[in-house]
Parts: sequence; C-alpha cells; structure tokens
Amino acid sequence: MIFVAATALLALWASYCCTATPHGGPNRSNGKRFIVQLTRNTEQSGFHSERDYIEELELDAYKVAYSINIFVGNPPQEIKVDFDTGSSNLWVRGNFNRNYCYGYPGNQSEFIVKCSSEFEFLRGTYNGSYGGGYCQGRPGNDLVEVAGMGQYRLNFGVAFSITDYLIPNNCGGILGLGLDDSQYSFLKHLKRNEVLSRNVFSTKLTNQGEYNFVEFGGWDETIVSENIHWIPIVHNVFGHWRFHANSMSIGSHEVISHPTDMIADTGCTNIVVLSRDIFNKLMQNMQAYESSTGLCVMNEWNLQLEIDIMGKTYVLDWEDFTSKQADLYCPFKLHISYLDRRDDLRMPEVILGDPFLRKFYSIYDFGSPSQIAFVPYQ
Ligand SMILES: *[C@@H]1O[C@H](CO)[C@@H](O)[C@H](O)[C@H]1NC(C)=O
Ligand SMILES: *[C@@H]1O[C@H](CO)[C@@H](O)[C@H](O)[C@H]1NC(C)=O
Ligand SMILES: *[C@@H]1O[C@H](CO)[C@@H](O)[C@H](O)[C@H]1NC(C)=O
Repeated sequence: MIFVAATALLALWASYCCTATPHGGPNRSNGKRFIVQLTRNTEQSGFHSERDYIEELELDAYKVAYSINIFVGNPPQEIKVDFDTGSSNLWVRGNFNRNYCYGYPGNQSEFIVKCSSEFEFLRGTYNGSYGGGYCQGRPGNDLVEVAGMGQYRLNFGVAFSITDYLIPNNCGGILGLGLDDSQYSFLKHLKRNEVLSRNVFSTKLTNQGEYNFVEFGGWDETIVSENIHWIPIVHNVFGHWRFHANSMSIGSHEVISHPTDMIADTGCTNIVVLSRDIFNKLMQNMQAYESSTGLCVMNEWNLQLEIDIMGKTYVLDWEDFTSKQADLYCPFKLHISYLDRRDDLRMPEVILGDPFLRKFYSIYDFGSPSQIAFVPYQ
C-alpha cells in the first residue's frame, strides 16, 4: 500500500505515548530474533473498471497482500493485519458497538474495543491516506504484541470508516513498517524500546500461502552467504523505503537512463510505474495492450527486466513479472501497472511491489542511517 498522507491530532497526550512500558514489567527480549509466518492472500479486486478510485489497482483484477497476525488488547485479541512496508502506521478496524465478549478469540478482522480492559482513546482523530483509499477513526492506546516480541503499550489508529478494497477482505488493519517518525510508527516503537538487538527485519516472500516469513532482529544466513550490498535509504516525506536506482531496461532497451527514485512496498501487487513516459516505453517494448483483466502481451518474449541500483543489477525473468494464462485474448498477463502520481513530485517513480520482492530476500535495516538490501536466492 503506498502511503500518501496521514494526519492525526493529539493534543495533550504526547508525553504519555513516550513512556511506553510493557505491561506487567519489562519484557524485552534483547539479543533475540523473532521469526513469524506471513500469509499470502490474493483476491479479486472486483474494481478494476473504476480507475480513478483505486489507482493502485488500475488495470488489475486481483490484489496480492501479505498478512501477519498480531495481538491487541487485554485479554489479547488476535487480529490479522496487512504487512505493509509502503506505509508506517499501525491501525486496526474497530468494532465500537459490540458489548459482549464471549466467543473469544472472535473475529480476526476487527478489534472489539469494549472487550479490552486496557484500551484508552486518545484525543483527536486518526486519518490515513493511501494510494488505494483512506481510513478514518480515532487514535487509541493499548497493549500490542507482534511476532512474540513482548507486549507493549502502543498508540495506534482505530478506524471506523475504511474505503472498500483498501485492505484485503479478511484483514483487520495495517501494520505499516515504513520509516516515518509518527507516534503510530511500529518501527519507531521497536527502536525506542530497544526491542531488538539490531534494528533490522527481513522478509522471505513466495507465491505460496504458507511459505512466507518475516524475521525481526536479523536475517537468514543460509540465504545471505556473501557480503551484503546495502543500498542507502534517501530521506523522503512519506516514510517510504526509498532509494536511488541508476537505470532500468526491458530486454536490451533502456526505459530509464537517469537516476530515479524507487521504493520497496510489500503492500503493492505489481511493479508500479508512476511516470507515464517510463510506463509507455515499457509497454511499447513488449507490445502490451489492455484487456478487461489487466495489461497483456500476446507473445512470450522472454525478456528480462533489469534494474541497476548502485552498480549492481537486479534481474527479473519473464516469469517473474508475467503469468501465463489460458486466455486467448490475454495469453500473458503483466504484473506491471501504472499509477498517476498526480504531479506530486514527492512520490517515487517506481514502486517495487510483489514481483520484485518475491524474487529477492529483502533486508530492511532501520538503524541510522537506514539501508535496504535485496539478496538473490541461490
Ligand atoms: C480527518 O478527516 C475528517 C473527514 O475528512 C476531517 O473532518 C478531520 O478534520 C480530519 N482530521 C485530521 C486530523 O486531519
Ligand atoms: C468480522 O468483522 C468484519 C469486519 O467488521 C465483519 O464484516 C464480519 O461480518 C465479521 N464476522 C463475524 C463472523 O462476525
Ligand atoms: C515475555 O514475552 C514472552 C513472549 O511473548 C512470553 O513467553 C513470556 O512469558 C513473557 N515474560 C514475562 C515475564 O512476561
């Protein structure tokens, strides 16, 4: 999910958030690593014709998302949330009406506010704005536990209004893992409370539902055998994992030849190009066309998509960004799409979503300075 803006007013409570102490005494697990499964979800967006509404899904009839189960409240309610490196805030869908609390663990798609003895509303409103829609609600504070890292009092958004298709149907919110400094930032919490021995997490994503993992605090040395090519993160306003790339080509045709900003975003189904010029060049070189289910190509060109970042080339093979289909009108579906950045020059030019992040083991280092690495699987 690409984060575009977030505003939340919090008048007098600011100091409260920063004295976060774990419930029941310190429970920091310094020096440990925490590995937890992510679930890959795919669903029909059902919305591909309404382009101005969900631009991120433009020309795409399905959506990919990875989810993680977190625990919110006391007693803890298990909530399934979208695991998203394209945004920075934690928020959950709130159910403000339900009074009865039997039937625990209940519904993983929502947080039943009245069933937590520790929950407190904070002042103001909570708004989050994404490339694919927005959510609105109120800020709250409660015990939260992610990936067995211990329970901590955190501020998060509790949304009562969420645009359709912003999150997968069965998800109850977003765990943003971007670099923003807001009080709802999960990475900021991990840093401040020194939860990890090293401020890093890594993701192993596949196209199989149950074989996806995130590791907080380290990376898998069986995958990372050589020196890591770290890519510096450049400062930007949206907390994106954003870096400079030198060039991009399809086959032998260069479609980007000047330094360009790209971001890594687990909440994004495709490789998304936000520059019309770059997108047109890509499409022309593959003779791509539009069909009712997305962007298609007629021939199996077997082209490679190459991205040069800091002198190292990251290569996607044809199968990594296309799907072969039994469809006469769309024999190869492209996992590349276009998003209008509406002249907002603060936005990156390319979003490296699922097709790229599945190809490389990704290491997100949120220490100072922040850096990211993409390691090919052996
Ligand atoms: C959140 O959105 C609502 C509705 O658009 C608006 O009234 C409110 O002022 C917004 N709050 C903030 C803090 O921006
Ligand atoms: C679970 O919560 C979602 C979101 O509020 C709601 O649409 C769904 O009906 C709930 N399911 C059950 C079984 O209560
Ligand atoms: C600390 O958290 C771990 C993981 O959630 C839990 O197993 C352990 O019982 C907790 N310890 C204390 C003292 O609360």
